[in-house]
Amino acid sequence: METVTASSPESTKTSPARNTHGLHVITWGCQMNVYDSARMADVLRPLGYGPAETAEEADMIILNTCHIRERATEKVFSELGRLRKIRDERIEQGHPRTIIAVAGCVAQAEGKEILARAPYVDLVLGPQTYHKLPEMVARAARAGGAVIETDFPTDEKFDALPTEAAPQTAGNLTAFLTVQEGCDKFCSFCVVPYTRGAETSRPVLSILAEAERMVASGVKEITLLGQNVNAYHGDDGSGKSANLAYLAEVLSQIPGLARIRYMTSHPRDMDQSLIDAHHTNSALMPFLHLPVQSGSDNVLKAMNRGHTADEYRNIVRRLRDVRPDLALSSDFIVGHPGETEEDFEATMQLVRDIGFASAYSFKYSPRPGTPAAGQPLQVAEDVKDRRLAQLQALLREQQDAFNEQLVGTTQEVLITGKGRKPGQLSGRSPYLQPVHFDGPEELIGSIVKVAITTRRTNSLGGVIVQETAAAC
Ligand code: SAH
Ligand code: SF4
Ligand code: F3S
Repeated sequence: METVTASSPESTKTSPARNTHGLHVITWGCQMNVYDSARMADVLRPLGYGPAETAEEADMIILNTCHIRERATEKVFSELGRLRKIRDERIEQGHPRTIIAVAGCVAQAEGKEILARAPYVDLVLGPQTYHKLPEMVARAARAGGAVIETDFPTDEKFDALPTEAAPQTAGNLTAFLTVQEGCDKFCSFCVVPYTRGAETSRPVLSILAEAERMVASGVKEITLLGQNVNAYHGDDGSGKSANLAYLAEVLSQIPGLARIRYMTSHPRDMDQSLIDAHHTNSALMPFLHLPVQSGSDNVLKAMNRGHTADEYRNIVRRLRDVRPDLALSSDFIVGHPGETEEDFEATMQLVRDIGFASAYSFKYSPRPGTPAAGQPLQVAEDVKDRRLAQLQALLREQQDAFNEQLVGTTQEVLITGKGRKPGQLSGRSPYLQPVHFDGPEELIGSIVKVAITTRRTNSLGGVIVQETAAAC
């Protein structure tokens, strides 16, 4: 679930405001890192830290990192070098020493190496320790040396986060909300179980309270996050375990919350109650990110995914039975150790059979400490390149076809802001495509019906046909 959106690292920066200390957060990786960055800003706010638009203006810089593929990790040290230079320049200009913190999955996996290779870093903190940031900042100031926190204290993180609505959330119409974190599935290729720890689910009531705060600040669409979000099994408030379908039902009762999404789901946890929820819960959007990784049973087995290609086809069939307009996106890895030409062709066949609205695809990247990295039969780089190009060409064709068949239909669009051109508005369709059309600014924040007239690879264009599509 790393981003491009979901998957090539994305940078998000906090927006400016007046505060005693400037905080600049650089976020790479998945949506959970985006959520975590906002929460780190929340815990630092009582200390007087507010958003600084650039690293040059910041008293503290947090680099929130991703370890999922080699390339994501490589970038960390070059970025740290750049931040160090900025700090030196600020010191020359007479500013106090900028605090540099490394957070996220690289901090968790390579904390000690970071301190060895970049000793000028002040704080290294793993994803389960963000609530300790204020204490770490104080410790670093007192001791004058680097402070490292990479424990996995279960459940503490969410309990310790501030409960008031975060000011920077105000004005946002869409938000991420982490409901489940960590992973016990240990896919052969993946670092997440090592960087995020064991699977834990937050209690329903704590999530409900956070969602209500978000909606009170104007949020209309919430994406529930988890590394395996559909493995969610939080306390329902009476000591019993609630599943994701139940959680989504509870949240859908919040007045003003128009749309609910969830990601990333694992096919193994796509149970019947969640499938049925796509029929019964009208707040659930008809768009599901359901990574399959490969269409070959041999590779799926080697990956330890715990399901076959036909089981995946069957899940999709059941979903489409209850929600015929449901569209899918997925993640794919080409060149997992042992993947033959025949295995790759099985992936191409699965893509042809399902038809995806969008997808993220990657060359297998060996990650230190994971079982697949040590396997013989690694696939040659040029073979991976060719397979990736072939797969991406097919996926792009399907994305174009999906967008094309929306031309001539009417879609409900949540208007999220102004478009690039004067008089233009921009929003998102149920399928997460950006949609552009003309309309008055007062409509920002509402859901309107838009007749789709044009399409590009990544966006749609249209005209408003009805201004109030949903009460929100
Ligand atoms: N929990 C999600 C995926 C999280 S990681 C799931 O189980 O589907 C996000 C995506 O990154 C994965 O779906 C996978 O396609 C990709 N990925 C993870 N490890 C990788 C590796 N070592 N090489 C290439 N891609 C990888
Ligand atoms: Fe990684 Fe597999 Fe867990 Fe997804 S299910 S986070 S791919 S180990
Ligand atoms: Fe990357 Fe960690 Fe997310 S490795 S994809 S930031 S869980």
